[in-house]
Amino acid sequence: MNLDSAKAKLATFGQEHVLRYFDELDPALQSKLLDQIEATDMSILDSCHHREELAKKGVITPLACMELPEIEAHADEYREIGEKAIREGKVGAVLLAGGMGTRLGSDDPKGMYNIGLTRDLYIFQCIIGNLMDVVDSVGAWVHLFVMTSEKNHDATVRFLTEKNFFGYDKGHIHFFQQEMAAATDYDGKILLEEKGRMATSPNGNGGWFISLIRAGLLDTIHSEGIEYLNVFAVDNVLQRIADPVFVGATMAKECSVGAKVVRKNAPDEKVGVMCLEDGRPSIVEYYELTEELMNAKDEKGDPAYNFGVILNYLFAVPELERVVDGDLPLHVVEKKIPCLDENGNFVKPESPNGFKFENLVLDMIHQMDSCLPFEVEREREFAPIKNATGVDSVESARALLQKNGVML
Ligand code: UTP
Repeated sequence: MNLDSAKAKLATFGQEHVLRYFDELDPALQSKLLDQIEATDMSILDSCHHREELAKKGVITPLACMELPEIEAHADEYREIGEKAIREGKVGAVLLAGGMGTRLGSDDPKGMYNIGLTRDLYIFQCIIGNLMDVVDSVGAWVHLFVMTSEKNHDATVRFLTEKNFFGYDKGHIHFFQQEMAAATDYDGKILLEEKGRMATSPNGNGGWFISLIRAGLLDTIHSEGIEYLNVFAVDNVLQRIADPVFVGATMAKECSVGAKVVRKNAPDEKVGVMCLEDGRPSIVEYYELTEELMNAKDEKGDPAYNFGVILNYLFAVPELERVVDGDLPLHVVEKKIPCLDENGNFVKPESPNGFKFENLVLDMIHQMDSCLPFEVEREREFAPIKNATGVDSVESARALLQKNGVML
């Protein structure tokens, strides 16, 4: 893109300030900035001015969950179906590791965080170890697709390579990078992270399937005969991946997607809960749950919206391919964005200073025709690490790991 075209594009979106330092840059940096301007979707930025409208939901009604007693009663049957599918190579896993982990506050990718006390125990190591349990019991490797972002790709690949993938078969690990989106201040003006570079952040975890296709990995999925993808977050160290019983139950119920859920520990717990929205599966965020919905009861007298998602979904690949061109809603999220201040000095803010623009994997549930919410025991499968201390932290995850017999 040449300078005139860049000026025209920026003027269309009210972002002319992006070229504020252009004349100070050497030609190589000028050219990089022009390329970045060309590649950036600026049409989404205006949405920060109507965030409330973006969050509007349809009519919410309950969605029944497969609860622990029912799972227990059919566990052998489901396990057999799931193990067979895994052994036949029909199940792949997708690790979402493109996030910035800003709340944890480490500059390294979150998976590199060492949560050991008397020995090294990295988050990546816990996750790969959990997947290895299934590989060992079933006797077949599971293809693991790892999504990173421009911000953490090199560090992630370097680390896992140095650690020899914690014993996982290298031939079954595939990296791919997600897209980036510009970040703005509260007025929707793009922030600069360098004089010749707009501030960007990963565009949320909802673009994982499109990014996987762009990386050419759909061919691998087809050629390897993978029919289901188990998508999961990097930060839950008790995560069960390619869990045969979960796989078998989702297959037996012929659902487009299965979602692992935990029973809420209080009506106002801050988790997204499973529901139907306008008759289709969906997830309603805790801040969207009205008092009325929070206290609603089902026919058994139990809370009607009682199961929270833990970011562990099993998608049927043909269903993903069917919806791949469909739009996902945009989320405009307040975050801390390192950037240049008005004097051109680089600052790392202590509190949120602007917006990031994200698509979320939870919105993909609403694109699916049917969903099986599948209850798991919180204490055995849910130890998220979001913060350094307090709720959902390194401390709470360590306690849960120890409870599950993991030596730290
Ligand atoms: P979070 O919502 O916890 O976001 O991600 P985050 O960026 O990791 O952390 P904070 O909010 O900055 O502290 C949930 C999961 O989705 C992945 C994360 O890596 C994590 O596994 N994710 C998130 C992506 O892969 N890409 C993204 O753009 C955002």
